[in-house]
Amino acid sequence: MDFGMLGFGTVGGATVDVLRENAAEIAARLPSGLRLAAVATRTPARAAGRLPEGCRLSDDLADVLDDRAIPVVVELIGGTGAARAAVLRALDAGKHVVTANKALLALHGEEIFARARAAGAIVAYEAAVAVAIPIIKLLREAQAASRIDALAGIVNGTANFVLTRMREDGVDYAEALADAQRRGFAEADPGFDVDGHDAAHKLAILAALAFGVPMGLEGLRVRGIRGLSIRDVRFAEALGHRIKLLAIARRRGDGLELRVEPALVPHGHMMAAVNGEMNAILVQGNASGTTLHYGAGAGGRPTASAVIADLADVARLLGADARHQVPLAARHA
Ligand code: HSE
Repeated sequence: MDFGMLGFGTVGGATVDVLRENAAEIAARLPSGLRLAAVATRTPARAAGRLPEGCRLSDDLADVLDDRAIPVVVELIGGTGAARAAVLRALDAGKHVVTANKALLALHGEEIFARARAAGAIVAYEAAVAVAIPIIKLLREAQAASRIDALAGIVNGTANFVLTRMREDGVDYAEALADAQRRGFAEADPGFDVDGHDAAHKLAILAALAFGVPMGLEGLRVRGIRGLSIRDVRFAEALGHRIKLLAIARRRGDGLELRVEPALVPHGHMMAAVNGEMNAILVQGNASGTTLHYGAGAGGRPTASAVIADLADVARLLGADARHQVPLAARHA
């Protein structure tokens, strides 16, 4: 299956690397291989020399969006301006879209999904929330039998990394944040991470899946970790707690409570042991009971893993045959 890529930063580079390193494994699991046919980015110099043989490179998004031979587009531009226009244009042209862009979905998800439905196109977005944790699949598929009553998550890797560095290594807030930026965890504007907006975007997506409400930020209460000091972190420890930035959604009467805020988590709770850039999401379903899901929440390779898994899903949906109804059958066929 050919696909095009829009934007080429940390995640784009990691996606190319993982596709190359794991080509045999990926091909064995799919009805067709995955081939990156073209990349369009404002900074082609970053991609030059890193792309697979035969892959075209351009600084004009139209070279991917108007190419009728490309059925699937991966959007890694980020933000909600050019990315929104590109995704809508791709969908209108009948292309399927894979995106890691949580801000785009939280703000324009309703519009994007409506256009996808009209075009009969797939929008896949596993990488948008808690990258390596397949939480979108989980809520949509594994929890299909339950009414979800609540979920609570550590869903911003950068904020969790900063809090962990402050507690474990005694580094101050600014230095810990600079470290998270160096490691490629933070958003282009790290204010989104530390002020809770990135977690709010992810919560909006999770709430839509869990409770069937429209995707949007209306009614969300958001507070971040900016302004917390090492003293705050140490006081919490002395009281037997850890400070975690939590995104919480729960049914309340006939409404929903949706909030992002720093919370005190008791030392003995499993969420207190989620450190560094790791994420965890706890889900309460009325049939499934409580489940807890843990994995990397930021970083190039874990995000690339989720992007490629979404490409694999699109390939499976488009090329489904009986052979692929049995897990692992493809490898032995
Ligand atoms: N900046 C985000 C985070 C990246 O730190 O969680 C993954 O969404």
